[in-house]
Amino acid sequence: MSTFTPKNILITGAAGFIASHVANKLVRNYPDYKIVVLDKLDYCSNLKNFLPYNSSPNFKFVKGDICNADLVNYILITENIDTIMHFAAQTHVDNSFGNNFAFTKNNIYGTHVLLEACKVIGKIRRFIHVSTAEVYGETDKDAAVGNHEASKLLPTNPYSATKAGAEMLVMAYSRSYGLPVIITRGNNVYGPNQFPEKLIPKFILLAMRGKTLPIHGDGANVRSYLYCEDVAEAFEIILHKGEVGHVYNIGTKKERRVTDIAKDICNLFNMNPYKNIQFVENRPFNDQRYFLDDQKLRNLGWSEKTTWEEGLKKTMEWYMRNPDWWGDVSGALIPHPRMLMMSGGSGVDK
Ligand SMILES: NC(=O)c1ccc[n+]([C@@H]2O[C@H](COP(=O)([O-])OP(=O)(O)OC[C@H]3O[C@@H](n4cnc5c(N)ncnc54)[C@H](O)[C@@H]3O)[C@@H](O)[C@H]2O)c1
Repeated sequence: MSTFTPKNILITGAAGFIASHVANKLVRNYPDYKIVVLDKLDYCSNLKNFLPYNSSPNFKFVKGDICNADLVNYILITENIDTIMHFAAQTHVDNSFGNNFAFTKNNIYGTHVLLEACKVIGKIRRFIHVSTAEVYGETDKDAAVGNHEASKLLPTNPYSATKAGAEMLVMAYSRSYGLPVIITRGNNVYGPNQFPEKLIPKFILLAMRGKTLPIHGDGANVRSYLYCEDVAEAFEIILHKGEVGHVYNIGTKKERRVTDIAKDICNLFNMNPYKNIQFVENRPFNDQRYFLDDQKLRNLGWSEKTTWEEGLKKTMEWYMRNPDWWGDVSGALIPHPRMLMMSGGSGVDK
């Protein structure tokens, strides 16, 4: 297995959740790599996500939009970028049922701008495109085998459709122009730094305020969750050992019903689940399950290390220590938030 050594890495979207953990890990573990972060600082981002690594000599932050071709070209040239890890996206499925043109623009057009800049400048040795398990669509309740990397893409909601669309462009640039791409498709991730529009931090913040936890539909949907540090390690391995032209699922076999997640969070806060869980109107469409075959990534040497109990406790403790990380998040804590439609929800200056 050959090993790739990057020099100057552009990470998009790293003021958000997952990529902040990846950027911090690379800054900390590889002082010889230069890490340049490009993020437009949308409502879900936070510059504090880089603490304490923002003062490291191998870290640089640029506030800007991946849809801005001039800026992207400028960064690739002036920073001598040889590797891109592309995380930036509109990521919340609930929002995609509302303002979904923002998803097409950021997720598809934004990816296209990055790809075109790579083609024009011609110096990129790895383009790691971060996609999602949701591009496979929902897995049958009874399926015993998870989606593998060659399974069909059958997205069911506007978010996952734009993620699948972006993947098509990435694959086309690989075939047409020989861009050395790797695609990842991950299960749900949880942990510190995640904006509380997503299920786990939202339930934790509501529980901290003694409020009821709203579950979409009957809560029988199943989700597979990985702890953020395990996912950051998966990206570290894929960066160095992933094979160009390949897709890697980042998944777990452990699945949980949404009601059980809510019950576990109630238990952590000594709340009675029967009194504190409220079933609310479902999303327009709510995938039943996302089950992945993760053997290919395991063959590179990755494995999940954090147990659910340990990860959930660490996450709860972090939110308890940092209740005001994003300021006023009350708009995100309602049962069906539409952050992109709220004032200040589309890229406020921070
Ligand atoms: N969160 C999950 O459970 C999960 C699971 C699988 C895959 N993914 C994928 O991982 C990636 C990161 O997800 P996340 O949950 O950490 O995201 P997030 O919503 O926490 O952060 C996204 C970041 O991207 C930035 N951004 C958005 N549009 C941009 C643009 N046009 N230009 C510059 N910056 C922009 C935002 O400001 C934000 O900082 C996404 O591509 C997502 O599809 C997420």
